[in-house]
Amino acid sequence: MRTARLYTLDSNTALSAALAAKLPLQPANLLTRYFPDGEHYLRLLDHNTDRSAIILCSLNRPDEKILPLLLLCRALQEQGATSIGLIAPYLAYMRQDKVFNPGEIITSMHFARLLSEHINWLVTIDPHLHRYTSLDQIYSVPSRVAHAAPVIAHWIQAKVKNPLLIGPDSESEQWVQDIAGRINAPWLVLEKIRKGDRDVKITFPDFAPWQDRTPILLDDMISTGYTFLKTMEHLRHRKMQVPICMAVHGIFTENARESLLAAGITQIVTTNTIPQVSATLDISTELAAAVCEFI
Ligand code: R5P
Repeated sequence: MRTARLYTLDSNTALSAALAAKLPLQPANLLTRYFPDGEHYLRLLDHNTDRSAIILCSLNRPDEKILPLLLLCRALQEQGATSIGLIAPYLAYMRQDKVFNPGEIITSMHFARLLSEHINWLVTIDPHLHRYTSLDQIYSVPSRVAHAAPVIAHWIQAKVKNPLLIGPDSESEQWVQDIAGRINAPWLVLEKIRKGDRDVKITFPDFAPWQDRTPILLDDMISTGYTFLKTMEHLRHRKMQVPICMAVHGIFTENARESLLAAGITQIVTTNTIPQVSATLDISTELAAAVCEFI
């Protein structure tokens, strides 16, 4: 069979190179730019007849990425690609998984349906599965979920003495419990009530038994950073050490990073699902193992 072509649709060229080094993939030549009016220009410089195509595109800033992604899928189909796989290290539109207020659209479901119409398979890292237990509930194409837990656990074990893992809400328990179990570290999960995009209330247990520990705030993603900022405030009042902030996906909307640094955080560590200055943990091995199941 001919080697699959790998199209890198976002700026994660380092991750793309790491994947191409680990898998039998041929990097494809794709030109993208914006027209002055904001429309996308896309040009395929290779032909894909009788060849499978794989697209690497992390779906942070999803609204600006989804249209070129779907257009690329259409063009690859027209060229005769035998299959189209999507590696979306960060998978967007997973959090609106329920109608909280009358009239709200369950965007996770519609986004999944839309994407499923254009691809043959999907690989991602730690999607925000909360009320859904599997991507199969919303995606109609086969998917594989790889996990960042081994690399996060390895980093903590190598770098932090006496860690205490803290998940800011019940949704984070799946990650916190898994990672703590791998390194035999104590862990806690707090209770978060989200009142708005930038308004969260968190309740705290007694931290007295953990005063000598280095707190590690751990979540699947940092978006605005408010969840971690609120958690930090409470830790400070309880005279705990300055925490390390860790997340699988560093989205960092608005000036999340600057706000965390201004609040006294000195270490923010995320994986390279989204290229960022904090993205020091490489998950290409985990992604490549999942992609192997489709090629
Ligand atoms: C929410 O359910 C997620 O697991 C994160 O806790 C949340 O998205 C973090 O968002 P922010 O950084 O905006 O507080």
